[in-house]
Amino acid sequence: MLLQGISVALLLASTACASWDGNLNYRSPSINHDGLGINLRKVHKRMLTKRDGSMPQQTGQLNFTHGVASGDPWDTSVILWTRVSPQYENDRSNVTVEGNVPLFNHETERYIQMSASPICVDWQVTKTPDMSGAPAASGKAYTTSDIDYTIKIEATGLNPFTTYYYQFTVCGTQTSSPIGRTKTSPTDDDSSTPLSFAVFSCSNYPNGYFNAYGNAARKDNFDYAIHLGDYIYETAKGNLTVDPRAANPQKEIVTLYDYRTRIAQYRSDLDLSLIHQQHPFITVWDDHEIANNNFRDGSSSMNNTEQSFNKFGGISFDTRKMNAVRAYFEWMPLRQADLDDNLRIWRSFKMGKLVDLIMLDTRSYDRSITGLNWNDDYIYEISNDAGRSLMGSRQENWFYNSLLESKERGATWRVIGNQIVFSRINSTSTQDEGEETFPFNIDQWDGYTGNRNRTFKHLYDNMIGNNIMLAGDSHQNWVSDMIWVGEENYDSATGAGSIGVEFAGTAVSSSGSGGNLSSNIHGSELIVRDNQELQWQEGYYRGYYEMHIDAEKIEARFFGSPSVATRNPYEVSLANFTVYSGENHLARPVAGGVAASGAIQQGEVVMTNLTLNTETGEWGYQAAEYNQMFIAYPTS
Ligand SMILES: *[C@@H]1O[C@H](CO)[C@@H](O)[C@H](O)[C@H]1NC(C)=O
Ligand SMILES: *[C@@H]1O[C@H](CO)[C@@H](O)[C@H](O)[C@H]1NC(C)=O
Ligand SMILES: *[C@@H]1O[C@H](CO)[C@@H](O)[C@H](O)[C@H]1NC(C)=O
Ligand SMILES: *[C@@H]1O[C@H](CO)[C@@H](O)[C@H](O)[C@H]1NC(C)=O
Ligand SMILES: *[C@@H]1O[C@H](CO)[C@@H](O)[C@H](O)[C@H]1NC(C)=O
Ligand SMILES: *[C@@H]1O[C@H](CO)[C@@H](O)[C@H](O)[C@H]1NC(C)=O
Ligand SMILES: *[C@@H]1O[C@H](CO)[C@@H](O)[C@H](O)[C@H]1NC(C)=O
Ligand SMILES: *[C@@H]1O[C@H](CO)[C@@H](O)[C@H](O)[C@H]1NC(C)=O
Ligand SMILES: *[C@@H]1O[C@H](CO)[C@@H](O)[C@H](O)[C@H]1NC(C)=O
Ligand SMILES: [Fe+2]
Repeated sequence: MLLQGISVALLLASTACASWDGNLNYRSPSINHDGLGINLRKVHKRMLTKRDGSMPQQTGQLNFTHGVASGDPWDTSVILWTRVSPQYENDRSNVTVEGNVPLFNHETERYIQMSASPICVDWQVTKTPDMSGAPAASGKAYTTSDIDYTIKIEATGLNPFTTYYYQFTVCGTQTSSPIGRTKTSPTDDDSSTPLSFAVFSCSNYPNGYFNAYGNAARKDNFDYAIHLGDYIYETAKGNLTVDPRAANPQKEIVTLYDYRTRIAQYRSDLDLSLIHQQHPFITVWDDHEIANNNFRDGSSSMNNTEQSFNKFGGISFDTRKMNAVRAYFEWMPLRQADLDDNLRIWRSFKMGKLVDLIMLDTRSYDRSITGLNWNDDYIYEISNDAGRSLMGSRQENWFYNSLLESKERGATWRVIGNQIVFSRINSTSTQDEGEETFPFNIDQWDGYTGNRNRTFKHLYDNMIGNNIMLAGDSHQNWVSDMIWVGEENYDSATGAGSIGVEFAGTAVSSSGSGGNLSSNIHGSELIVRDNQELQWQEGYYRGYYEMHIDAEKIEARFFGSPSVATRNPYEVSLANFTVYSGENHLARPVAGGVAASGAIQQGEVVMTNLTLNTETGEWGYQAAEYNQMFIAYPTS
């Protein structure tokens, strides 16, 4: 009997371990080295000690608390995400590294209160929307409070460019997650399938409703969503007892618990939840996933100094960064590009032979010091220093090699998912008088001209064309021909001299330049006047853009939310752009000669007020009540 008991336990142990492994969040940050990542043997032992290693607690209390999400589509696999928990609240542990544990150790056992037993889920992937029929993929996975009850699995063995549906169910129960929809990418050599993307950035929950996500999801007019960062904001805003969208926790976030709670709050948003359920995401972080204007080792609110350490209650910048990164990987449906390097988020996707999508991290990985308010004079002074990098040498070399490999494999388009505005922008004319300012934004590529020059040189030397730079971060729309200013001649009328196009989009809900529609249009006119490569600029509307890509051309369509002060389904078509393969500049007349807001180099701006209701599909005129853009907070 005893022997039998032991062998049953061993059997349970080994099958369970295989399933534990199925949850990718247990492998992060490194499965390759003992002592890094969560010690699964220990977690598992804790479960066996409870003598209920295979079947968990009161399954009736378990809920799928934050819907489902999918992401990082490959041709035969995709990442699926959910959270199943006995509590809505996030795990209370806030210790990333302590005592003599190895760096990045995820052992949180001492702090765990809730997770007495593992939670088991079965997951299934089908081609049918109601989950009927034979599964295309299926499996079992466990979760515990060690990883905040998150579940992230890779569904493999799928067919290319195919729509799939997926669902998680608590083992042995009828408790199921909502059904999600996702889509794999085309195979590497598929040159005929057109692809479409919706591109988002800068979604600030307390600042406004996520109407951009809701509109895009309801129109359902794209394959994959790209988020260029500022998916969450770390700062405090509002009062939770009175403001419906006050930031939770009600403070600037620093601990692991804080970051988990903040992401969880964002994921409770109905529009974000809807779009995650329907579309696979490809995400990277910008600064606010960690802290404003962060760089290699600091941010605007935090130095790597004793003063900052004390101010934030005994949290160093390094630990804060680890907390943010760990919560991000737990909660976001992305692959960890390098299991030995959990700071690495830069990675690329072969989307058929049509597109190579190169996702950069210009913020956190290895960026040279940026403008932090107190040092702006210095940063402006060194902005043309050749030693400065946005990416660090490792990522920069990978970036240039990826561009070259993309050309060599014959991919039609190189789409670069980047955070900050790439083009040189002289913004002198829109700056307030008396304020100490610089003509260029030193927190964008303009503060790192050496890195930008190396990028241009690489493209020109290797004759790499069809480059499309994406950007977010600025909370305004900027569409430019890509020009190496001071080096290449440029004809603004024809686009000659350009080596690609930059589409920099506005925010989902973060504040832009402020002011009203007419003052914004005036600002756009000045800035377009002072920057001949900048073909369209717009700063009033919140929103996103779609890119529809085939072998001949890219069409980009920019959409605006007239107001994010309320949750509403209204949307304005702001401007449409075309780029033909081989031309390396925006097709003329740019935007067909007409945009609905902002300013364009050649052509006119015609405000129609025509607004689409994305719930009914009806067009109408915008009501006056939508003239307030953002949620108002008491000024005190
Ligand atoms: C789970 O969700 C159901 C329905 O929303 C709710 O009634 C129940 O209280 C939740 N259970 C827990 C433990 O949160
Ligand atoms: C982290 O959590 C522990 C245990 O709950 C608590 O004692 C400590 O104050 C927390 N630290 C911070 C910085 O919040
Ligand atoms: C939040 O609002 C409540 C109710 O008005 C008030 O009692 C509380 O002091 C406020 N909290 C903060 C931090 O302002
Ligand atoms: C960071 O250091 C600079 C320079 O010493 C100082 O001006 C700034 O106030 C510091 N910031 C914080 C948050 O300690
Ligand atoms: C920027 O634009 C202003 C006009 O607003 C002009 O006077 C100035 O020379 C420009 N600066 C640069 C560096 O091009
Ligand atoms: C970048 O290129 C411009 C134009 O040739 C040049 O003026 C500038 O000095 C260069 N800066 C660096 C750091 O290479
Ligand atoms: C817009 O803002 C400008 C500048 O603040 C102001 O002069 C103008 O009256 C405003 N227009 C409207 C329609 O409110
Ligand atoms: C953009 O194109 C769509 C058709 O795809 C059209 O309905 C819309 O009016 C265009 N927008 C502008 C501003 O020209
Ligand atoms: C569009 O809205 C503006 C501001 O609300 C208003 O002044 C204008 O008359 C409207 N135009 C049309 C065609 O409805
Ligand atoms: Fe932002």
